[in-house]
Amino acid sequence: MTLTIDGQPVSAEPGDSVAAVLLRLDPPFSRTTPVSGSPRTPYCMMGVCFECLASVDGVASTQTCLVQVREGMRVERQHGRRVLTMVMSQDTAVSDVDSLNGMPRGVSP
Ligand code: FES
Repeated sequence: MTLTIDGQPVSAEPGDSVAAVLLRLDPPFSRTTPVSGSPRTPYCMMGVCFECLASVDGVASTQTCLVQVREGMRVERQHGRRVLTMVMSQDTAVSDVDSLNGMPRGVSP
């Protein structure tokens, strides 16, 4: 099957995680840090380290080690600080990003 990473078509096998596909790229990284801009690479492959965050089908900071590839999936590696997105309901504004460090709540840069 074929997905796109940063707009480039990439082949993958059914059952591959997105993180596994990112590790096969050259250079193999999923994101850069908001502080230094250094590249980070999927590490634990089991949802613990948060080094594999990338945008998957428009959803930023997705743990790509926990997502299997699908035909036509769009993946963008994240660079630096995530753009703040707000989810609005009728009465409540909710942010899924820590306002101090720009990372998902509970994640340190
Ligand atoms: S590789 Fe560690 S959380 Fe995904």
